[in-house]
Amino acid sequence: MKKLIKNGTIVTESQVFQGDILIEGEKIKEIGEGLDAGDAEVLDASGKYVFPGAVDVHTHMDLQAGKHRAVDDFYDGTVAAACGGTTTIVDHMAFGPEGCSLWHQVNEYHRLADGKAVIDYGFHGVIQHVDDRVLKEMNEIAGKEGITSFKVYMTYDFMLRDGELYRVLCQAKEDGLVIAVHCENDGVINYLRKKYVEEGRTQPKYHPLSRPARCEAEAVDRMLHLAAMAGDAPLYIVHLSSREGLLEVMKAKTSGQRNFAVETCTQYLTLTDEMYQDDKEGLKAVMSPPLRKKEDQEALWQALSDGVLDVVATDHCPFNYRIEKQAGAHDFTVCPNGAPGVEERLRVMYSEGVVKKRITLSQLVKYLCTEPCRMYGLYPRKGTLLPGSDADLVIFDPDKERVLTQRDMHSAVDYTCYEGMAVKGDIDLVMQRGKVIVKDNEFLGTRGDGRYLKRAKSVLAK
Ligand code: URP
Ligand code: ZN
Ligand code: ZN
Repeated sequence: MKKLIKNGTIVTESQVFQGDILIEGEKIKEIGEGLDAGDAEVLDASGKYVFPGAVDVHTHMDLQAGKHRAVDDFYDGTVAAACGGTTTIVDHMAFGPEGCSLWHQVNEYHRLADGKAVIDYGFHGVIQHVDDRVLKEMNEIAGKEGITSFKVYMTYDFMLRDGELYRVLCQAKEDGLVIAVHCENDGVINYLRKKYVEEGRTQPKYHPLSRPARCEAEAVDRMLHLAAMAGDAPLYIVHLSSREGLLEVMKAKTSGQRNFAVETCTQYLTLTDEMYQDDKEGLKAVMSPPLRKKEDQEALWQALSDGVLDVVATDHCPFNYRIEKQAGAHDFTVCPNGAPGVEERLRVMYSEGVVKKRITLSQLVKYLCTEPCRMYGLYPRKGTLLPGSDADLVIFDPDKERVLTQRDMHSAVDYTCYEGMAVKGDIDLVMQRGKVIVKDNEFLGTRGDGRYLKRAKSVLAK
C-alpha cells in the first residue's frame, strides 16, 4: 500500500521545489529528493505540479432553499468536487424549521451526507434564531461533532438582528468558535426588490441593482464592529464580492482588529455583472451577492496578491437552468439564488490567477488549500503536503489546455457559468488518502468513501 510520486514540482503555501512524495497507506510518509521506491507503486510527475488536495469551505450540497432544492446531493456534488481537484468540503447547512434546535440540521445533514460523499467532509452549523438553548448548543455541538464554526445571515428569512448577532459573537468568543457571516443590508435590499417588482422591472439585470455593493460594505462594516465589540470575536466573512466591501475589511485591519478572515469566490474574480445584460445568461448568475464590475474584480485580485483576503471558495449552490432557474424567468426575485462552481475552481483559478500572473503558485495553494484548513480546524491534516498529513493531492499538468464545458463536468446541474472559457493547465490525477479517485477527468472513487471530519478549533479562535 505504498505509492511514490517521483520528480514532481511540489507546491505548498510557502515553497515550490522539485521532489518526491512517499505515501504509506492514507498518509504522506516522507517528502524529499531521490526517495527510494522499494516496493512502492511509482507515479511519474515529471513536468507536473503536485498540489495539496483543494479544500472548499463554502458549498451547499442538497440545499433546500424555499421551494427549490439544490440539484447536487452529497454524491453528485462531491464527485464534481473531486473531478475539480477538491478533496475536502465543509458544507453550509440549510435553514431548518422555525425555532428548531441547532441539532436538527446537524442530524439532517448527517442523514444527507453520510454514506454518500466521496470525499472527506465537514459541516458548518447554522444559527437562525437566538435564545439561551441555541447559545448553549453551540459548544455542545463543537465538542460532540467537531463543528467549530456556525453561520449567520444578515439577510434572508432567518436573518439575525444586530443584538442577536452580538450575543452569538460573545458566545463564540467565550467558546472559541468561528462565526461565518453572509453580509448584506437586508432593509435596503428588500426595499429595492419590492420597488423593482412594482415598477415591472423584473429581468435578471435588476438583480444586481437590487443588491448594490454598498449593501455588502455596510453589512461588512457593521459585522466587523459587532465582532470588535465582542472582544475581537472570531469572525469569517463569506463570499466578499465588492471593492466597497474590501475597503471596510482594510479599514478594520488598519484599526488593529484581530481574529477575522475574509473569503471571496471564483465567480467574483472572473465573471462580471455584464452577464445580467442577457436574460438567459443573467438567470444563470442570479446569486447573492451578485456579480460585480471589472473594478471590483481587479480590487479582489490585488487583495489576493497583497494577502489581504484569506480564502477563495465557491459557494457552490446549483439549480438547473432549464428547471429551477426558470422560476425567475419573469421575476428575478423568485429565482433560486446560487450557481455551480465546485468543479471549476482549481482550473479557473490556476489559469486566470497563476497563468495571468495575478497570484503566485504558492498563493494558489494558500487560498484554495491551506488557509481554508487553518480557518476551520483542519490543518495540518488537510490543506498541505507534510509528512503525517493525509495523502490528498492533485497532480496538475501546466501544459495541458481545456475549454470548460458542462458536457465534461460531473455535477448534476445543466450549465456552467464558465461555458467556453479556455483554461491553461489541467488536472491529471486526484488522490484522496492515498487512493486515486480521479484520473483524466474520470471519477474512479466509491460512493460513501468520504469521511466525516470532526474539526479542531480555528486559528482565529486561538
Ligand atoms: O446565492 C447564493 N449565494 N446562494 C447560496 C446561499 C448563500 O447566500 O450563500
Ligand atoms: Zn451567502
Ligand atoms: Zn453560500
